[in-house]
Amino acid sequence: MFIKAGALALTLGSLATSVLAQDFTIRLSHGDNESNPTHITAMTFAEKVAEYSGGRVAVQIFPSNQLGSEEEVVRAVRNNTIQAQIPAMANVHPVSPSVGVFLLPYLFTNSEEAHAGLDAILPAINERTTEEAGIRFLGILEKGFRVMTNSVRPVETLEDLKGLKIRVSPNEIVIKTFQAWGIEPVPMGWGEVFTALQQRVIDGQENPYTTAQTSKFYEIQSYITEIHYMIWTGPLLISEQFYQSLPADLQDAVSRAGQEAVVAGRAANAAQTEEAMKFLSENGMTLSGAPKDEEKWSDAARGIWPSLYGVVGGEEWANEAIAIFEEAKT
Ligand code: MLT
Repeated sequence: MFIKAGALALTLGSLATSVLAQDFTIRLSHGDNESNPTHITAMTFAEKVAEYSGGRVAVQIFPSNQLGSEEEVVRAVRNNTIQAQIPAMANVHPVSPSVGVFLLPYLFTNSEEAHAGLDAILPAINERTTEEAGIRFLGILEKGFRVMTNSVRPVETLEDLKGLKIRVSPNEIVIKTFQAWGIEPVPMGWGEVFTALQQRVIDGQENPYTTAQTSKFYEIQSYITEIHYMIWTGPLLISEQFYQSLPADLQDAVSRAGQEAVVAGRAANAAQTEEAMKFLSENGMTLSGAPKDEEKWSDAARGIWPSLYGVVGGEEWANEAIAIFEEAKT
């Protein structure tokens, strides 16, 4: 199923003039369902691209990994087989090492700080992702902290985590973080997670509150812990090959639409998070808040930063990125 932005914009009456024949089509893939803030970001992008391009660029949205897993699609975007995508950052890192800086555990302490840092780093990260992977970030979506759900017991301390089979994205940095907490996590593609939880192949997973609600994890999971180790970030990215094929005015239209879409997606997520927490609690989940020994979690995970510099584009880039994030806070 897909949504054609040109048609949608006409239905909404958001185009002042009639739509001209479309010159370009962007096929946009993402891995969440249609109630998730990622989809709101995609829809906003489609509407604004139609508006700012005067109907010359159309966006077709393919939710729920219909075009392939996030890891497969990011490779297809490089080749311009698919033009755009909104994946989780962990699933971009295998093709573009420099984005690993967004995955350093305990990097941001709240969403506002993350927004400032994510916006400030855009020009610098694009110099690297275009080179490393042929992809350009139009903006970076943020969906709050990844929280851990499980079906076995409330996790209130690091000790409670021991022995649980927690699924993580197939990403080196995330895997090493969980290993620093003394467990061997289970790397698995996002599309397989619901069934694996249902069949008890794994005990838990970690994603934002809004995803726990929209992916219906409350039907098969009982406990949530705010492990606060990583804010969910995911770029609205476009094929550099495709972007360079656009005339300058359409590049501007697409860039502006992308920046505004991530702002709308961040706001939608913030608005939905409180409601998601209430909903999850009303639907049988126990929300434990942060671990009682949170300092132990953060000390262990922050302790591995130096060992990660080699997989995030090198120490020099890591220091440059961290300096950009620090400066943006002030
Ligand atoms: C993942 O856990 O692989 C991602 O966070 C899923 C997503 O894209 O929302």
